[in-house]
Amino acid sequence: MGMEKNMNQQYAELFSGFSKLDRKDRMARLKQLGVLEEEDIQLLNRRGSLDVELAEKFIENVIGYFYLPMGVAANFVINNKAYAIPMAVEETSIIAAASKTAKWIREKGEITTRTIGQEIIGQIQLAKVNDFENFSRIVFNEKQNFIEELNREVCHGLVRRGGGVRDLQIRKIQRPDGGIMAVIHLLACTCDAMGANIMNQAVEYLKIPIEKLTHEKVTMCILSNLVDSKITEARVELNDVEPEMAEKIEEASLFAELDPYRAATNNKGVLNGIDPILIATGNDWRAVESGVHAYAASSGQYRSVTKWKREGEKLVGLFEAPIVLGVVGGVTRLHPMAKMSLKMMNINSADELSEVCAAVGLVQNLGAIKALTSVGIIEGHMKLHIKNLTLGAGAEEKEIPIVQKRLEEILSLTSRISMSNAIDVLKELRGQKNKSNLKESEVLG
Ligand code: MEV
Repeated sequence: MGMEKNMNQQYAELFSGFSKLDRKDRMARLKQLGVLEEEDIQLLNRRGSLDVELAEKFIENVIGYFYLPMGVAANFVINNKAYAIPMAVEETSIIAAASKTAKWIREKGEITTRTIGQEIIGQIQLAKVNDFENFSRIVFNEKQNFIEELNREVCHGLVRRGGGVRDLQIRKIQRPDGGIMAVIHLLACTCDAMGANIMNQAVEYLKIPIEKLTHEKVTMCILSNLVDSKITEARVELNDVEPEMAEKIEEASLFAELDPYRAATNNKGVLNGIDPILIATGNDWRAVESGVHAYAASSGQYRSVTKWKREGEKLVGLFEAPIVLGVVGGVTRLHPMAKMSLKMMNINSADELSEVCAAVGLVQNLGAIKALTSVGIIEGHMKLHIKNLTLGAGAEEKEIPIVQKRLEEILSLTSRISMSNAIDVLKELRGQKNKSNLKESEVLG
């Protein structure tokens, strides 16, 4: 406990003023924290030279790499452990908002997390069964043998690590043509792997035995991304929140719970915190996205995956959804950046990584709805967006601060800003300098 406190204090000190440092100093601080080593810094400094041969191992028809900016979310203390959280993302203000909100929580509250359930789901579909009752009786009688055979023949590695197939369930689905579809669910603990490959092997392995025994036809076998059997939970508790602000946050939460149009945007904001970590750690963000959205709709209406409520003097937030990840397998240990990202967080298990993602998603959500219910999104989001507009308009090094300042003025006067403002400001500036009237294409070019 004492050591943790000391460590958390060290993180707090080294993250203080972090965003104001230049890139070199930020990396020096991360080195001081022990989350980066000299070779990591060299890797981060290497531009455009990630091993193309490595890319050939991942995908087909390789022509190169697509780069995303990679930053660090600061100030996160989750379950009393301080983290430097790598995020690969193109959207302005995500990392700034996450770090700022995490600082607020570090000072006035806490973030705790847990994983509920351990098994992921694989599906075996029998599109049309002739006799469902007979089919389910046979499969049910054979259930224990199937599980034992799978653990012996396919999942022995998982069993050795404390996982393996644990259950088999049968579902009956009414077809629109009046017939019956049968779906078998296989539940397996895949330990620190995301488990897609092993689960797909397990469900495919059962195809022939099931067909032989039941005389029914298996039509397809694949894992499900709606993993409601393994839920990641994050909880934020905040003290001393101004009652008016707490009430507005609660109202924003209710909006997202009741209205699917708002829920979609709310959940997008939550995923703003999650996807960048998935990308940085080489995890399958499409799988998590589909699982989170499907879970959000599991009541029959698409709802928010976060909730904020006042509990006595406290403001309490909860995130609940499946985030099934791996820290072994896939590209997590092959891609040097993914490997480095995992090392930076000193992550010990897949569950811990999922919980960090859930926590960052919840904190990101709080940052967004706090801004939306107070100053609005323009201030935080667009001010930073000005930088992109300035660069997009083609401003050169010396012109950047002048254009940015003028755009900030326009923003505070009109609450609006766009690329055409940036182009106009730049034209004006260059016009003042050389009295020549540049065309839009020249400005952008
Ligand atoms: C923008 O990327 C995310 C937000 O729209 C999220 C939200 O509305 O809660 C700001």
